[in-house]
Amino acid sequence: MNKYIKINKEFTDGEIIDAANYIKNGNVVVFPTETVYGIGVNAFCADAVKKIFEAKGRPQDNPLIVHISNLDMLQSVTCMEKITDIEWKLINAFFPGPFTLILPKNDKIPYEVTANLETVGIRMPTNIVANRLIELSGVPIAAPSANISGKPSGTKIEDIYVELKDKVDYIIDYGDSDIGIESTVAKVINGKVCILRPGKITKEDIETVVGNCIVEYDDKLFSNQNKNNKVESPGMKYKHYAPSTKCVLVYSENEEKMINKIHDVINEYRNDNVCVIGFNEHKCFFKTDLVEYINLGSKLNLLEISKNIFTALRKVDKLKPSICIVEGVKKEGIGISIMNRLIRAVSHNYIEI
Ligand code: TXA
Ligand code: MG
Repeated sequence: MNKYIKINKEFTDGEIIDAANYIKNGNVVVFPTETVYGIGVNAFCADAVKKIFEAKGRPQDNPLIVHISNLDMLQSVTCMEKITDIEWKLINAFFPGPFTLILPKNDKIPYEVTANLETVGIRMPTNIVANRLIELSGVPIAAPSANISGKPSGTKIEDIYVELKDKVDYIIDYGDSDIGIESTVAKVINGKVCILRPGKITKEDIETVVGNCIVEYDDKLFSNQNKNNKVESPGMKYKHYAPSTKCVLVYSENEEKMINKIHDVINEYRNDNVCVIGFNEHKCFFKTDLVEYINLGSKLNLLEISKNIFTALRKVDKLKPSICIVEGVKKEGIGISIMNRLIRAVSHNYIEI
C-alpha cells in the first residue's frame, strides 16, 4: 500500500484530492460509504477494474456496483432511454442511499465491470466522503465491499488494513461504517421489483414507492449453492461473510428455547473453547469461563446489530474457538438482511426451533 489518510467529519476537498487523482489515474482506493467500505477504481478503466478482482480474489463472474455522485452521471453509465417508469420511481426515492438498482449498461462501462452482463448495478452513496471522492475524481467509481472474497465485508479500518494493505494503493480512514451491511440490490424484472440482496431499504420501503407493483424476495432463488446455475445476483451464490471458524446459527421465536439450545451446543463442546455471538441482554445467560461472549448490541435495536455484525464475525477468527454459536433474529424488516448475512456466514449451518 502506498498511502493512508485519516479524516473526520470536518474534512476538506484538499484532504481527498490526492485520493481522487489516484482513482482518476487507474489506481485502487479503499473509501468509506454509509453501508460498508468500498475498494474502488475508475469505472471506465478496464485495467483498473481487473486490479480489483485480483486484489479480492473475486470470481470473474461476479459483477461490480458502479457508484455515482449525482443523477446527471446516470447518462454516463446507463442506457437512459431504456429506464422504465418503475425504475425512475426507485431512483427518485432511494438515490442517494443504501440502495443499488440494476439498470441497462451503456457502451462506456466495460464488460469487466459487469462480468459480461448487459446490466450494471448503480448506487449513489449518501456518505459525503464517497460523494466528494466521485465528484473530485470526475468519474464513476466501480467498487465492491472492502474485503477478501468470501470474508465478512469491511466496516472497520483496522480489519481492512490488515487484510488489504498490500493489495491497494490508498486507504481513506473515516471511522466505522454507519449501517454495517451492504446496500439492498434490486432489479425490475417483467414489471416486478425483485430484491436480489436484502439490505436496510426493505421490501416494505420499496412497496410504499412502487405501490401495487409486486415486490419479491425469495432467498432460495438467489442463494443457489450450485455454482453452475444462472442466478439473478451472481454474488449471492458464493460462500460469503464466513469466518474460518466453524459456526452455527440458532434461532427460535421463543427466547428461552433459543438460549437452551445454545446451552446444548455449548455442552457438546464442553472440553473446547466456545464463542457465542449474541445480544447484550443475553450475556448474563452465558457467564462461564468456558465461553467468550461477543456482544452484538441490544436485541431491541436491529440497526445496532446490523452495524456490529461483520466486526463480530471477524473477532471470532481472532479468538480461534472450536465453535462459534450465533443468536439469530426474527426475519422481519431489516432482520431479513441480518439473517441473510448470518445464514451465509455460518455456511447454512442453521438451526431454527
Ligand atoms: O453497500 C454496498 O453495496 C457496497 C458498497 C461499497 O457500495 N458494495 C458491495 O459490493 O457490497 P459487492 O461487490 O460486495 O456486492 C455487489 C452485489 C453482488 O452480489 C453482485 O453479484 C451484485 O451486487 N451485482 C452487481 N452488479 C449486478 C448486475 N448487473 N446484476 C445482478 N447483480 C449484480
Ligand atoms: Mg461483497
